[in-house]
Amino acid sequence: MQSETTKAELPRRGSSSSPADTNGSSHGRIFSAQMSDRDYHRLSKFIHDSCGITLPPAKKTMIEGRLRKRLRALGIESFGKYCEFVFDSGGMQSEHIHMIDVVTTNKTDFFREPDHFDYLTRTALPQLMLAHMPGARKKVNIWSAACSTGEEPYTLAMVLGEFAEVCPGFDFSILATDISTEVLEKARLGIYDHDRAVPIPMVLRKKYLLKSRQKEKGLVRVTPELRNCVKFRRLNFLERDYGIEDRMDVVFCRNALIYFDRPTQERLVARFLNHMAPGGFLFVGHSESLHGMDLSVEQTATTVYRKL
Ligand SMILES: C[S@@+](CC[C@H](N)C(=O)[O-])C[C@H]1O[C@@H](n2cnc3c(N)ncnc32)[C@H](O)[C@@H]1O
Repeated sequence: MQSETTKAELPRRGSSSSPADTNGSSHGRIFSAQMSDRDYHRLSKFIHDSCGITLPPAKKTMIEGRLRKRLRALGIESFGKYCEFVFDSGGMQSEHIHMIDVVTTNKTDFFREPDHFDYLTRTALPQLMLAHMPGARKKVNIWSAACSTGEEPYTLAMVLGEFAEVCPGFDFSILATDISTEVLEKARLGIYDHDRAVPIPMVLRKKYLLKSRQKEKGLVRVTPELRNCVKFRRLNFLERDYGIEDRMDVVFCRNALIYFDRPTQERLVARFLNHMAPGGFLFVGHSESLHGMDLSVEQTATTVYRKL
């Protein structure tokens, strides 16, 4: 999708409006390009309407910095021309996906907020299994919504894999979704800097990670077996139809709600609940809360909710 050609009018290299092929001064111009308040307003309104992310005025400098990379890649010398390209010349079709990659914050870690994984194995999974006849097969469907570069769903896959070894009849599926195609590409590859694996307990690292043959690269890769446990797919929370057919027993939607205003958060959580089985568990980030929302849930632990 990212390599798709566009019919939109990109400034042509070699034309006076294309600075990318000049003797280097264009890079200086792009480097120092400033965004007007009007252009920022236009861009932030578009981002809010298309993916629900609120970009307050205080984030302008950060967004300006991140978007400069797009200007450079396209050979466009000012934010004014970039806005003309995306809003007036039909460039949005090809640029939308890159814009989302630029504005989203993808910070994540293996075993981030580790008490959630303890709660999952000690409380949530045993309770889900209790509802079944001893020894009967039970498949638990899990959704890592807003999975970023994959550390969260791969952590889930390790934890559930371990649980499966001690719990006869237990089976699981993991769906991992995100709006950003760039993070999904990284997630599918499952290749990480060695340092990122530090929060993973050693016993699990040995079992589920492969070291790069070229040691100096300092990379690790999630084993094919673990990669096969997770199905990645693009999903924008604002889409009308999520295209999810399975009833989810566990949903992790952590550190993503924070980007939405309160009414949108409530609307989104209600939609997640529609995709969940009664008695299913919803985990949100440690700085997020469903307090005061009119939802059919009970809180069972800090930032953990159960669908009634
Ligand atoms: C900070 S990361 C959270 C990653 C992970 N859940 C964790 O807690 O470590 C937030 C993710 O939300 C995704 N996101 C933002 N807006 C979204 C939307 N409208 N639909 C789906 N995902 C979205 C971003 O692309 C980003 O990867």
